[in-house]
Amino acid sequence: MKKKIAVTEGLRQLPIRPIYLVSSEYKKKKNIIAVGMFGYFSGKPTLVGVGIAPSRYSCDLIRKSGEFVVNVVDEKLRDAVQICGEKSGRDVDKFELAKLTPQKGVAVNAPLIEESPLSIECKVVKEVEVGDHIWFMGEVAATSVREGYDWKDGLLFKWIGEVGFYYKVGERIGKY
Ligand SMILES: Cc1cc2nc3c(=O)[nH]c(=O)nc-3n(C[C@H](O)[C@H](O)[C@H](O)COP(=O)(O)O)c2cc1C
Repeated sequence: MKKKIAVTEGLRQLPIRPIYLVSSEYKKKKNIIAVGMFGYFSGKPTLVGVGIAPSRYSCDLIRKSGEFVVNVVDEKLRDAVQICGEKSGRDVDKFELAKLTPQKGVAVNAPLIEESPLSIECKVVKEVEVGDHIWFMGEVAATSVREGYDWKDGLLFKWIGEVGFYYKVGERIGKY
């Protein structure tokens, strides 16, 4: 028997999800934002999307440049995620503050994060305003992976009440 709870509390109970660092650049201003809102929207063409609130500095940069890079994070990047999820690029240089290195992309001008094991370069094909976030749908133009990377190293995040916790990927329990 299930009992009705407040909507926000119900959504807080959603399972754990991956977290990403999304990098962007416009007129030589580089920035990074921590993002939980990520979706894989289409196979052919390959479209992924990120949900960014209009108040974020990253929203301006992605909108104006038409590009973004989704960088997977592992445990070593935990402190960097914290910085990129709290500070705004309007006030600080997050590459410098989080000690991350911008790396030249293959297909876009936006920088990849060198310390990230997997970077997905995207060109915006559609911008959709959904409630309090803008979803930037990007066609994947290139992907780069670090040799030896194991996707099980990926970092997960879970909001619980007012706080959040980081987790690592769990064990394999079956086949579908
Ligand atoms: C775990 C976590 C997940 C987040 N997910 C999102 C998200 O999906 N979309 C968003 O707009 N902001 C998200 N944020 C908040 C932004 O990362 C934060 O407001 C950041 O400082 C914005 O940076 P900017 O102004 O430089 O773009 C998240 C923060 C954390 C800590």
